[in-house]
Amino acid sequence: MTLPKEVRIGLIGYGFMGRAHSNAFLKAGHFFPLPCRLVLKAVCGRNADNARAFAERWGYEAVETDWRALVKRADVDLVDIASPNDTHAEIAVAAAEAGKMVLCEKPLARNVAEAERMVEAVEKAGVANMVWYNYRRVPAVTLAKQLIDEGRLGRVFHYRAKFLQDWTISKDLPQGGAALWRLDVNVAGSGVTGDLLAHCIDTAMWLNGPITQVTAMTETFIKERKHTLTGRVEPVGIDDACAFLARFANGSLATFEATRYARGHKALYTLEINGEHASIFWDLHDLHRLQYFDHRDQGIVRGWRSIHVTDGDHPYMKQWWVPGLQIGYEHTFVHQIADFLSALARGEQASPTFRDALATEYVTDAVLRSAASGSWEPVRQIAK
Ligand SMILES: NC(=O)c1ccc[n+]([C@@H]2O[C@H](COP(=O)([O-])OP(=O)(O)OC[C@H]3O[C@@H](n4cnc5c(N)ncnc54)[C@H](O)[C@@H]3O)[C@@H](O)[C@H]2O)c1
Repeated sequence: MTLPKEVRIGLIGYGFMGRAHSNAFLKAGHFFPLPCRLVLKAVCGRNADNARAFAERWGYEAVETDWRALVKRADVDLVDIASPNDTHAEIAVAAAEAGKMVLCEKPLARNVAEAERMVEAVEKAGVANMVWYNYRRVPAVTLAKQLIDEGRLGRVFHYRAKFLQDWTISKDLPQGGAALWRLDVNVAGSGVTGDLLAHCIDTAMWLNGPITQVTAMTETFIKERKHTLTGRVEPVGIDDACAFLARFANGSLATFEATRYARGHKALYTLEINGEHASIFWDLHDLHRLQYFDHRDQGIVRGWRSIHVTDGDHPYMKQWWVPGLQIGYEHTFVHQIADFLSALARGEQASPTFRDALATEYVTDAVLRSAASGSWEPVRQIAK
């Protein structure tokens, strides 16, 4: 995999993530020493007027209304998939076959079969690939990884993660269509398991290693909703809430919970790790802080420290402002594209690759199987 001097980007989808990625593509070269130049070549959306308006606002040179045309363009080196989950597999496979680098939003796919096809396609084509599990690159979460890898926690006993929202409580909310595709199982693949827990699982395995078995429960609180596209009241096929227990390969125990029915919570992603010597706690609503407790501290001053992760020696932070000034959500995407390109310049691939993200698909698959069977389910492991 070689890196050209100029990487010409073709973006598919101009919604929430289309904006987050475009912002990152524009900012990365200003703040990080990139090994190449990024060019916003073309954006694809099915509505030509909207796509043109997006292209003008963000500086894309051209517009396509069919992703197949974008993938075929000779002047595009990298295809960035920021469209809903049902589009990921087909686009990624076509892009890999066309020899493009492929970035894909999470979850990698709607199910394991699609995800495995995607991994096979990028690996067979030998094209660079990465999945946008961006929370790994919150400086406080990256710092947590550093502290764990340095052995500061000692043996890990517990991992605890939650991702709580409250936006689907109303029974009058329809499902499907442009705004509510996350509620349509055919488009999303699953509910909170593939959407929210996938993030928690990716971070968890990055910090604490592979998950080997799970037992889960899911619930669909509102069983029928009007479908925006058909106008009919139809069964709801997604999980509205999911809680599961897990065992990690390192012997630690975990609890995971996600819901869109936790009144008052908008995007409360928290994680806690308890080790033999030390514990770590992180909260997305306070994302620039890492809470750290070290039992080895002198007794009279022992307690939870709230580390403001803004110093020059904290991950990523020397590229930004002066110590004490914090950054936010959008910067995680800047970090991710910068890491992707600098890894390629070294002849490596930044994580998570499609194969790394397949490991998360195996966990979400086991979670959904367990919720259906009522039993503990083993988790398939990726071949490295
Ligand atoms: N990394 C994260 O934290 C994060 C956050 C939100 C969403 N996501 C993921 O990003 C993806 C997109 O989510 P979003 O919130 O940006 O959705 P969105 O609904 O805001 O935007 C989706 C975009 O895709 C376009 N689109 C849909 N079908 C298309 C097709 N066939 N061809 C071309 N364009 C098409 C839509 O017009 C829209 O512009 C999903 O896979 C989602 O799970 C990830």
